[in-house]
Amino acid sequence: MNSTNCVLIGFMGSGKSTIARAIHKENGALAIDSDLLIAYQENLSITEIFATKGEAYFRELESKFCDFTAKHITHTIIATGGGMPIFCNVKKMGKVFLLHLDFETIFTRLNNEEIAKRPLFHKKDSAFKLYKERLKIYQNSAHYTIDANKSIPNITQEILSLL
Ligand code: S3P
Repeated sequence: MNSTNCVLIGFMGSGKSTIARAIHKENGALAIDSDLLIAYQENLSITEIFATKGEAYFRELESKFCDFTAKHITHTIIATGGGMPIFCNVKKMGKVFLLHLDFETIFTRLNNEEIAKRPLFHKKDSAFKLYKERLKIYQNSAHYTIDANKSIPNITQEILSLL
């Protein structure tokens, strides 16, 4: 395991990117976001990748991100896409923190613009089904489960104390 990276996992809208940036502000480590990096490299938004190339293609890119990070990246905070633990062994990238929130809290936090960016969140019912299917996998993929229903500084301090 590459224990120097801090890997944030969790369902869509659980705050992974926000917390990655907050940790960066505290400890100065580089923060990266797998969705942003993939979109940048493909020169397409995540929605466009799903629509034009399909989900399987996106999952291949996530797997490549995970393999490359495990081999070559250290001392970095990594915000992952919500599906990454389902398709990749995220523990090989570093110390994994699950940001846990219940589904209704996530749903009330996401506005329409945020939902529009996430092809797998377009229908509330199917997103909830996905959430339930994934919960156990998320828990098994994490070294630590963090209750994310707290303030950003509290979540950040909790993760920093465990790093
Ligand atoms: C996905 C989550 C998204 C993004 C893609 C698929 C998923 O990332 O990777 O839309 O399968 O849960 P966020 O968790 O940042 O929304």
